[in-house]
Amino acid sequence: MAVTVPSPDVSEARPRSRYLDLVEDHRVHSSLYTDPTVFDDEQRAIFDGWVYVAHESEVAEPGDYCLKTIGTQPVVVSRDGDGHVHVLMNRCSHLGNLLCHDPKGNSKTFRCPYHGWTFRNTGDLVGVPYKAGYGPDFDRGDFTLGRPGRVDSYRGFIFASMSPDVPDLREHLGNAAEAIDRLCELSPEGEIELNRGWLRHRTFSNWKIAFENEVDGYHGNFVHRSLKMLGNWSLLDQADVTNEKSASQVRYLGNGHTDIDWRPQFRKVGHPYLWLGAPEESRLADYAEALATRHGPRNARERLIDGPPHTLIFPNLFIAELFILVIQPIGVGESVQMQTPIQWKGAPTLNKRVMRQTGASIGPAGMIIADDSAMYERNYLGMAAREPQWLQRTRGLYREQTMPDGTEVSNVTDDTPHRGFWRHYRSLLTGTNPDGPLKVGTGR
Ligand code: FES
Ligand SMILES: [Fe+2]
Repeated sequence: MAVTVPSPDVSEARPRSRYLDLVEDHRVHSSLYTDPTVFDDEQRAIFDGWVYVAHESEVAEPGDYCLKTIGTQPVVVSRDGDGHVHVLMNRCSHLGNLLCHDPKGNSKTFRCPYHGWTFRNTGDLVGVPYKAGYGPDFDRGDFTLGRPGRVDSYRGFIFASMSPDVPDLREHLGNAAEAIDRLCELSPEGEIELNRGWLRHRTFSNWKIAFENEVDGYHGNFVHRSLKMLGNWSLLDQADVTNEKSASQVRYLGNGHTDIDWRPQFRKVGHPYLWLGAPEESRLADYAEALATRHGPRNARERLIDGPPHTLIFPNLFIAELFILVIQPIGVGESVQMQTPIQWKGAPTLNKRVMRQTGASIGPAGMIIADDSAMYERNYLGMAAREPQWLQRTRGLYREQTMPDGTEVSNVTDDTPHRGFWRHYRSLLTGTNPDGPLKVGTGR
């Protein structure tokens, strides 16, 4: 008997066409955030496609493993003795017990606590206690751990798709791949590492509220006002990036990916490290020198003015300049934001500063994530009132533009990324994605 992954699709009974009525071009129905059946449908239509899972640096050594999720499904990411990375369903192939419990560790095998079945970190079943009870025909090969249909990585970022029937990862990333490139190229060695541990912020809100907020350039001066009132922000004030007069832009990049592009405003001011709170350049002289060795002095300086990206890779990875945030849906009204500071390889001085700074923004006493999370929960609470039923996404309609590469751009305070997000959402939920509907219920 073979293991079947994923489990049967319970949502098939509901017509997918209902999403044509719930998502319009410029407004969305609020039941999309509050209806548990919508949440179930999303797990198949969205989270069975490409989803960010982990970074290769989290399993740097042979035997390393860490626990992650694909939507609501638990997975183990492991590196075997030959250095290959595996994404395995964290479900014992005997009776479905959660196989691995420790968030990370190093082990060649995983032993199920229920009846002691033991699996190699490649997913192969290697030990069954009292095996005679299964008779002579028992074949351990029938009980390897489940796996997603596709696994691939881009510059260390590991993605998985439960469905095997998806375009290649590079095609899925499309214009958003440039954000990962830009991020990595701020390292003198061209690589980032995520090795400082994860903070988990639980929020009683729908995952899409958090997702949309990350590219909402409209709220900054209101929700994060208290942050601005602290300390010396003179240089940052010049670069008032979230003002309607700012040259910064929001963008829809295609395939559900969105970003806020601070670069136009940063370039206008022309000062390196605005994205880092504008420290004196001399404090990071060794880093600048190392970066200049990689890119040449002029290109390196441009990169230090531009800074890292602020990009959301659909549906769950947020590259938030100095930290990575992964949105994990738990239920229709509950999500977890997983966050970790980015560490750039070969940049110890920068990394030290990033650690301090992210502590102040996303740490337990940090201000940014707390401010935003309060808004997520208020948003979810407000939607319990059913009138008016629709959320308007019309801001900037008259001024957005489509660029030659297909990206849609507009003023930093506009709803352009959200309109693109919802178009993509509708195509996935109705199964009218130009890439073709996701196949469901595929086993092996
Ligand atoms: S459920 Fe894992 S060994 Fe029985
Ligand atoms: Fe915010």
